[in-house]
Amino acid sequence: MEIIITNDYEEMSEKAFEIILSVVKDNPQAVLGLATGTTPLGLYNKMIADHKLNGTSYKLIKTVNLDEYVGLDINNKQSYVYFMRKNLFDELDIDLKNTNIENGKADDAEAECNRYNALLKQMPQDIQLLGLGSNGHIAFNEPGTPFSTETHVVQLAESTIKDNSRLFERIEDVPSSAYTMGPKNIMTAKKILILASGANKAQTVNSMVNGEINEKCPASILQLHPDCVLIVDKEAAALL
Ligand code: GLP
Repeated sequence: MEIIITNDYEEMSEKAFEIILSVVKDNPQAVLGLATGTTPLGLYNKMIADHKLNGTSYKLIKTVNLDEYVGLDINNKQSYVYFMRKNLFDELDIDLKNTNIENGKADDAEAECNRYNALLKQMPQDIQLLGLGSNGHIAFNEPGTPFSTETHVVQLAESTIKDNSRLFERIEDVPSSAYTMGPKNIMTAKKILILASGANKAQTVNSMVNGEINEKCPASILQLHPDCVLIVDKEAAALL
């Protein structure tokens, strides 16, 4: 794992932007694996600013998102599909038909997981962006998820519901389950870019990088990826 330590969130976002931009420039039809959460927002703002200023085009770019809450769709502002449109897609020239995410309102969960796995096999990610959950989760793969798992429905850990409740009006509104790409789908990406910032991620960053490769820390699987870049600000890197 290549590790880049930055002074702050701003510099972390800038370095991440440089990597994403080089993927887009090398292949204007690239498949970008994208993530939600607060961590990638600085990067997304830089992609938008660059598109507006320099005209970098996303017309032929395809995207696959990591996860979505069960029961939520575009009509719900807490859904990840809404998050992606509002924070990125609506500001780029991307064709929404080329953007993919699990359907939180699917009638048949198993069929939805199969659909998403088939899609990911057809269009493997040229790069997969990841944030890091405070309990070591990547996407919504909670501790204990077998590394061989593909897209599935997960019951969210209590700590995740608590962490994510800051984005909902009431903790009761946080869905208890979600669709998520599995560790196996994430590891098929040609390149992985994981970002973390802030002191509250320091312990988890250290377990991911220096801990045993173990399903108790889902992010530790990234130690096995041949091309994984971790960009952390110095607060999140404090225990490395
Ligand atoms: C959620 C998402 C993850 C994300 C994590 C960290 O649980 N499913 O993909 O990485 O939160 O979020 P944040 O970036 O807000 O710290």
